[in-house]
Order: sequence, then C-alpha cells, then structure tokens
Amino acid sequence: MLRSVNFALPVALSFVIAAALAPDASAQTRMKREPELIYVPTPQNVVDKMLEVAKVTKDDYVFDLGSGDGRIPITAAARYGARGFGVEIKPELIAQARANAKAAGVADRVQFRRQDLFKTSVREATVVGLYLFVWANVKLRPRLISELRPGSRIVAHDFPIGDDWKPDIAEDFENRTIYLWYVPAQVAGKWDFTGGPQGLSVQLRQQFQKIQGTATVGGRSVPLQNASLRGDAIEFTIASDAGTPMLFQGRINGDKMEPRAAASGAVTGWSAVRAAPVSKVRRRS
Ligand SMILES: C[S@@+](CC[C@H](N)C(=O)[O-])C[C@H]1O[C@@H](n2cnc3c(N)ncnc32)[C@H](O)[C@@H]1O
Repeated sequence: MLRSVNFALPVALSFVIAAALAPDASAQTRMKREPELIYVPTPQNVVDKMLEVAKVTKDDYVFDLGSGDGRIPITAAARYGARGFGVEIKPELIAQARANAKAAGVADRVQFRRQDLFKTSVREATVVGLYLFVWANVKLRPRLISELRPGSRIVAHDFPIGDDWKPDIAEDFENRTIYLWYVPAQVAGKWDFTGGPQGLSVQLRQQFQKIQGTATVGGRSVPLQNASLRGDAIEFTIASDAGTPMLFQGRINGDKMEPRAAASGAVTGWSAVRAAPVSKVRRRS
C-alpha cells in the first residue's frame, strides 16, 4: 500500500535489526510484538484536510494523542481558533511543539504535555486526532467510547480503529485516507415512552453507531425501520399495520430521550426513559 510506505518501512527495518540483535528471541515472540509507534509527521496538507473533515470550529478542544511536533492542535488553533492539547512521549518533540505553538502565536490556546497517550484522559476533548497504528487505536477504543461525549469526533490518518467500528467518513486524499467517527451515545436497552402513542416501548440493540430495535405498541411488536444514530441524535420509524408510519427524531441525554427541536414531520410531545439504567446494559462497543 503506497500511502503506508513511509510509516511501514522504518518499522519493518527495526524488526529486521531487532531480530539480528536478538538471536535467542523465538520467532513467535518477534511475530507477536506490536510495531513501535515511531515519529512520522502527518503532512501539513493532510492535517488541514483532517481538520476540515472533522469540521473543527473555535468551540472545539482538539487533542492529539502522540502529538509529534504539535502540528494538529497548533493548526486547529491557528486556522479555526480552537483550543488544543497534545501528549507526546519524546521530550524533544514536546519542546519542538511548544516552540512551534509560540511561533504560530497560539501558545495561549495550545498545551503540550509529556505523557503516555494510553493513560491520557480525553474527557474534555471534542475532537481527537490519531496517527497511530491500528493496534494502538484499538487499545484506545474503550477509553474513547467511554470518556468522549456523544457527538465528539475522532479523526484518524491512514489507520482505522479496528475492523468492526466502521468510520462514518473515509476520504481518500493525496494517497492517504482520512477516517472520521462520531462517538455514539449509548442507547441499548428498553425505552418506555410517555406522551406519544399509548403504551409505546422500544427495545434497542447497539453495536457502535449501528442500531436496531423493536417497538411494542398496542400490544403488538414491530421492527424499527430506518433506525440511525449519530452522536446523541437518534432516528427511527415505527410502521404498524394500522395508520401512517410514525417518525421519531430524538436526542439522547443519558437515560432520557426527547424530541429534537428541529424535528419536522416527526411525532412530537413525547419523552422516553430507559427502563434499565445504562450501567446495567451490556455494552457491545
Ligand atoms: C506517527 S507519529 C504522529 C505525530 C503527529 N500526531 C502527527 O500526526 O504529525 C506518533 C507519535 O506518537 C508518539 N508516541 C509513541 N508512543 C507514545 C506514547 N506511549 N505516549 C505518547 N506519545 C507516544 C511518538 O513519539 C510519535 O511522535
């Protein structure tokens, strides 16, 4: 794969060298070792595109896990007025990033800390940038899903977050691929509705942003149609035999669901609560 050559070649070479220097290590051990997360900067035009795909604004707080010379948070601050935060293991890159932030006139809005990216809280981030191998992205995944607020964006250069969490956007750009995920709200469970159709309840199943479910109304169960979830915005249609299909456009807030303000042609005047609290619902993501 041409676009990964710059990243992959030094890693492959380091394996060859490591193998030569450690003749007693078994081949199996060498095979199992994950490739090291070496420093390879994202080209500036790709950084620009990543921030464009993530639709960064001045209200965002852009994190970069393994921030190198700081170009992702610095560009977010310089071009969009966002705040930025980078963590990096190499002290010389932290020094470089701080100098770059100063030179770009954004040192007041962007911080860099020498810290292990795997131990970094992302609770405050609204956008997280990643240019790491798939194994590292997958290792970060539970933290990204549990700590980031629904609707936060994860933007990654060239490496997805495993096979099962499909990106919401995958865009090829200059022989690279830019991936974007919206962090989905956790919606699995049984939701009891009031104010809408009499006795309505909805059972939702979830795998990342993919949702399916069943509505029970008037004692009859029907599968939900066109169910979708983006961040905290949920949508589905209930089409029972009798009457016209009912479109629900809601917003999730923890264990509550309410109609979205902008809903048009959708059922209004309802609210729903999750019967089983979120902590008791088995998370599939
Ligand atoms: C491929 S570079 C990406 C640099 C930058 N994000 C960019 O896109 O230009 C990965 C960076 O992660 C850093 N890194 C590797 N392991 C780390 C760890 N455990 N904690 C923090 N940074 C780490 C490396 O030093 C390197 O700078």
